[in-house]
Amino acid sequence: MASLFSKYEGLAGSLGAVVAAGGRNPFAVVIEKPLSSTVGVIEGRETLLFGTNNYLGLSQSVRAIKAAQAAAEACGVGTTGSRIANGTQSLHRQLERKIADFFHRRDAMVFSTGYQANLGMISALAGKDDYLLLDADSHASIYDGSRLSAAQVIRFRHNDPDDLYKRIKRLDAPDAAKLVVVEGIYSMTGNVAPVAEFAAVKKETGAYLLVDEAHSFGVLGEHGRGSAEAEGVEADVDFIVGTFSKSLGTVGGYCVSDHPELELVRLNCRPYMFTASLPPEVIAATAAALEEMQEHPELRAQLMDNAARLHAGFVRLGLNASQRVSPVIAVTLETVEQAIPMWNRLLELGVYVNLSLPPATPDSRPLLRCSVMATHTAAQIDQALEIFRQAAEDCNVPLSAKETAA
Ligand SMILES: Cc1ncc(COP(=O)(O)O)c(C=O)c1O
Repeated sequence: MASLFSKYEGLAGSLGAVVAAGGRNPFAVVIEKPLSSTVGVIEGRETLLFGTNNYLGLSQSVRAIKAAQAAAEACGVGTTGSRIANGTQSLHRQLERKIADFFHRRDAMVFSTGYQANLGMISALAGKDDYLLLDADSHASIYDGSRLSAAQVIRFRHNDPDDLYKRIKRLDAPDAAKLVVVEGIYSMTGNVAPVAEFAAVKKETGAYLLVDEAHSFGVLGEHGRGSAEAEGVEADVDFIVGTFSKSLGTVGGYCVSDHPELELVRLNCRPYMFTASLPPEVIAATAAALEEMQEHPELRAQLMDNAARLHAGFVRLGLNASQRVSPVIAVTLETVEQAIPMWNRLLELGVYVNLSLPPATPDSRPLLRCSVMATHTAAQIDQALEIFRQAAEDCNVPLSAKETAA
């Protein structure tokens, strides 16, 4: 008799090898207690957190916590229903207005997660006669959204507007509707998309453009509206999708647009229609975190200073860090045999980062994905760098000790 689990045999073998190589399962780390935005207790030890997406440190915002408490007391802890049935309270509508106003857009849809925002928007927008053009390094939520749609999916080379242009020109049905999807900052590598160049291709070819600003919202642009603001091309972006789970420190997703049909998309969007809406405390905390972000642009400046400090430190150490300075800095190692012990040693010495192993990495080499927060102190960054040096030495990871500035 066939087993449902025979397909897991390969995975069990790979996971077993990872655990055997380092002594613990890197995908089952428990933060026993967050002590602040930058420090948590892991395995009983105070550990520096350099592997979250809490870019502005707002998961611990006192204002957001108080707003959540007040909303739970006033409205309860859940809605028990979908946005199109019993799951829309005034708070949801108010948050949508706030997000739309923040982006200077006509309307916003709020989803229960950022994952669902991509799943929902991509599947609702792209139908069977349409083309979806996806950056090859797109997040899983974008790929899953394209699977849920019936559209023809075409991948173009990562961050390559010329390749996108060529592929659009080669389409069998050039007059079909085309939706191009890119991300502002790529979550694994910290690569920033050349959004202005993608916008130029969109205009030249008559395609629609959706930018997922999950990691760039609150991070890029003078006001934190993301990569399209930073490059001055917001007017050319049809749909901005994003999440509350990174810079705002809560949970939930959104899409903003000037297209009036967004109101109709609400009725044709399965990940919006067939799931419970966000509870009042999350909505209220998100609104409070957004206000805090808007009132404190210095958080963004501090974030970038901290990113530059960590990046420069990696370069000084001779580690192979992402080329561009962004709050996501990936340290690439040559082999999995180096990466697994190094990740474990970092944790033992008190730094938590994310371990990414091939084939899930863009160029088949393992990554130690680090992320910076506005709330990290210079001393914490320097301590993390010293721990990286020590861990590399302990694990025989070669450091080329270049003194190049970032
Ligand atoms: C690029 C990108 N889009 C969407 C998401 C999904 O967001 P969420 O985790 O809030 O569901 C993520 C999450 O990591 C992401 O990196």
